Amino acid sequence: DADDLYVDHAYDMIVVSNRLPVDYEEQPDGSTGWRSSPGGLVTALEPVMKAADGAWIGWAGVADREFDPFEHDGISIIPVPLSASELEEYYEGFSNDTLWPLYHDVIAPPSFHREWWDAYVRVNRRFAEAAARAASDGAVVWVQDYQLQLVPKMLREVRPDLVIGFFNHIPFPAYGIYSQLPWRRQVIDGLLGADVIGFQRVADAGNFSRAVRRLFGYRTHGTVIDVPKEDAASDDPEVRRVVARAFPISIDAEGFEQMARRPEVQARAAEIRESLGNPETIMLGVDRLDYTKGIRHRMKAFGELLRDDRLKVEDVTLVQVASPSRERVETYRQLRDEIELTVGRLNGDHATLGHQAIAYLHHGYPRDEMVALYLAADVMLVTALRDGMNLVAKEYVACRFDGDGVLVLSEFAGASDELRQAVLVNPHDIEGLKDAIVEAVRMPRRERARRMRALRRRVIDNDVAKWSADFLETLTGAGIIQAGITEP
Ligand code: G6P
Repeated sequence: DADDLYVDHAYDMIVVSNRLPVDYEEQPDGSTGWRSSPGGLVTALEPVMKAADGAWIGWAGVADREFDPFEHDGISIIPVPLSASELEEYYEGFSNDTLWPLYHDVIAPPSFHREWWDAYVRVNRRFAEAAARAASDGAVVWVQDYQLQLVPKMLREVRPDLVIGFFNHIPFPAYGIYSQLPWRRQVIDGLLGADVIGFQRVADAGNFSRAVRRLFGYRTHGTVIDVPKEDAASDDPEVRRVVARAFPISIDAEGFEQMARRPEVQARAAEIRESLGNPETIMLGVDRLDYTKGIRHRMKAFGELLRDDRLKVEDVTLVQVASPSRERVETYRQLRDEIELTVGRLNGDHATLGHQAIAYLHHGYPRDEMVALYLAADVMLVTALRDGMNLVAKEYVACRFDGDGVLVLSEFAGASDELRQAVLVNPHDIEGLKDAIVEAVRMPRRERARRMRALRRRVIDNDVAKWSADFLETLTGAGIIQAGITEP
């Protein structure tokens, strides 16, 4: 029963994230249940946690509900409750209307509200307390993402015995942008409570170290930051060494490939092509409906290519999956209206009765349907204006065991540091984006195969198991000490 699951100080390995790997859902007919929740984070960490037999602390996705701990797929789940006003101020407000736009280079203007900050502090403390209660002596606690940046310090204060890691799944902005945050010192102070702070890109880790130097004047050497010990006398040279470096996240590449090899998934891919009228070229976009993803830029480029007859609607269809996201935040509502207006215009201007220009789907789909879509797509369009990593790009590559398919990838997505053989684009440059799309559509078979081979090697050799092993090794092992000795 639940009592056995939630014994104080029982877990040697704990993941703390805003969202649990499962969301609680109530259907209109009154039935309830737990459903896999969206987002790259869950996809990335689920395999790690299953293997570690650990506990996952997070929010169940609904307000004003308390749940007992339970077991899901071999993982102990410890839900943290949020009230309706905390949902508004901590999650929709500070996390997704302050930090999210700020950390994504202010593509949308961030809002700064002191009540939102207060709620962020309060909720971060609740997560830290839950972790302090569940962790065994000397346990490893791995805190995830921008919603919980204060947890490392709060946790260290009450449980100095713990080994604390933090991973930031989204970009960390340049100091000129970061410094807008009224609570810029408190956030960095919170993060520095960790032993290891992971980022997606080398550039993100660099931005963070620079902010630490500018705001605190701490010494940094290579990936190591010397944080003065709080209880040390002012002339005491004693420091705590914090590692801040890049650990580019990945996917369960083998799992995706195995699914792509299933005959029924391949049959479904053929069926998708058939139902679109078997066009010569299917282009695909798959994103949460978010202003960081560059969906409008992609559609603008495609629309102009049709208008100028560089592509023909009889030959090319764009499938755009836009999964619903953060729908109570105003910027997201506006974005949805703009995108849907654009889709309507584009189809109105260019579609024929037999051929639509854009097949637009405002839905989330199960993984096997996504894999069938990847297999059906000749060209994958990832045109993010800013993206921590973008796992969709890696998923597409992992699924293409047939060695075909072209990835068009924004240089502003973290994945572009690794996936150099993609057709790299600056999505702000609409002419360049149009040329890249035409290049991808017309790319000869041999070049497609050559590029895909190199991309696949990269993704298969650097999967999510390697990512978590790298991080945890740095966190628990010689990593910390050694980095201090060997870094210049
Ligand atoms: C991004 C973030 C995750 C977040 C996910 C879905 O991938 O890095 O932390 O969970 O988006 O967003 P949501 O607000 O629905 O959790």
